[in-house]
Amino acid sequence: MKQYYIKTFGCQMNVYDSHRIAGILNDLGMREAASAKQADLIVFNTCHIREKATEKLFSDLGRICEIKQERALAGKDTVIGVVGCVVQAEDEQIAQRARFVDFALGPLTYHRLPEILKNLDRRHSRTIIDTEFPAESKFDFLPANQSSGACSFLAIQEGCNNFCTYCVVPYTRGIETSRPVGEVLSEARKLVAEGTLEINLLGQNVNSYHGEDENGTERDLAYLLHRLNEIDGLERIRYTTSYPADVTNDLIDCHRSIKKLMPYLHLPVQSGSDTILKAMNRRHTAAQYLDIIARLKEANPLLGFSSDFIVGFPGETDRDFEATLNLVDKVKFIQAFSFKYSRRPGTPAAEMPCQIEEKVKKERLQILQDKLFSYQLKFNRDSIGKTMPVLFENRGRHPGQLTGRTPYMQNLYAKADKSLLNKIIRVRIKDATMNALSGEITEEQQHGRNFI
Ligand code: SAH
Ligand code: SF4
Ligand code: F3S
Repeated sequence: MKQYYIKTFGCQMNVYDSHRIAGILNDLGMREAASAKQADLIVFNTCHIREKATEKLFSDLGRICEIKQERALAGKDTVIGVVGCVVQAEDEQIAQRARFVDFALGPLTYHRLPEILKNLDRRHSRTIIDTEFPAESKFDFLPANQSSGACSFLAIQEGCNNFCTYCVVPYTRGIETSRPVGEVLSEARKLVAEGTLEINLLGQNVNSYHGEDENGTERDLAYLLHRLNEIDGLERIRYTTSYPADVTNDLIDCHRSIKKLMPYLHLPVQSGSDTILKAMNRRHTAAQYLDIIARLKEANPLLGFSSDFIVGFPGETDRDFEATLNLVDKVKFIQAFSFKYSRRPGTPAAEMPCQIEEKVKKERLQILQDKLFSYQLKFNRDSIGKTMPVLFENRGRHPGQLTGRTPYMQNLYAKADKSLLNKIIRVRIKDATMNALSGEITEEQQHGRNFI
């Protein structure tokens, strides 16, 4: 039986795509290899969002070439494929810089993998490249999504029409498309029947979801959340990533009325300065963002927020940066991702004057992260003494230990019998660092309900 190995870079959408690619390969009778060295097929699922991510791909590909050569000496063939966002943006570069790559597929064409693998023998040593934005939806051609344990991702929307001036996603994932309501619901039901307790709905701009329902009527994310809420056995729902300007009143209301919706929301703001937000082509101001947060909090006072930030966008002054710090002090995010602006070829911001020096970007990132981390640590410390429902997903590093997630996505580890794996258990929080909580299972632990 042939073996495959998939290495995934980038966002949760890529994690989901890799899972679906594994599904295709399993269907072809292959199985997952323990390491790249044992694999007959190695797939790189790539990310183009920042320069570092792309450069890392080329250095990793170099190492994979060595594995291919070692295996060839032992008489074994290795097929190497690159998929994902870098392919969409730099297909020719991949073929030139890494000639040993057998095929390269964009994020919207990986459903053609079986056909590509079949054709490999017939080609004449050139890399097979497919970066079309196809008319068909890949979801119609993939084998059914398999549950990946108690927590599963479910892509409901792909692509983005926002064209933030720094971002490659509209070019790599194309324009927005939404999967029909019925298709999403049947995938969700199947995942739950296979043991999924938590579904994380995915999309580059998930709250602009506009899928058709069974009658051909266009429906939004709020509608979809209500329908998912009706699925028995589904305990937790999350959705990511949202765009602030597309947060509707109905969606805010879901956080009041849908108890399965976890009290944690990732809502990227990028900057606290209106001048920079405008230059970024974001369709919201800092005040509008704060207003959305306030209305969400009013709907569910237990909500905690996370966000994405970019420092050193072209033209960012000390005052602009101060405005970002002020916004952080107002929202007190419980978790966040922050990045130095990375100049991406083909995006409008790459051509803007007043690019910021690396040294300044580095200093600002440090200051911002110190602040973000202090709020995250405080939030985790404030959890000590509370009891929270934890969904145990994995075995811990030490014997007799399990790890899981709280409703706020905090990592938690506790002494727990393995029979509690894939269950929601009430845990009293004993200790906290910035990245993890530790806890003790309470006597009145119960499965299946999310009390906070
Ligand atoms: N669709 C999501 C996130 C897309 S990418 C959204 O709109 O929020 C994830 C994050 O990467 C972005 O939120 C942004 O903070 C960061 N990012 C995107 N392009 C970047 C660039 N050129 N340089 C630095 N960070 C970037
Ligand atoms: Fe990129 Fe902006 Fe679209 Fe997010 S909303 S994917 S940052 S263009
Ligand atoms: Fe990266 Fe593509 Fe996701 S560029 S962040 S893998 S959408």
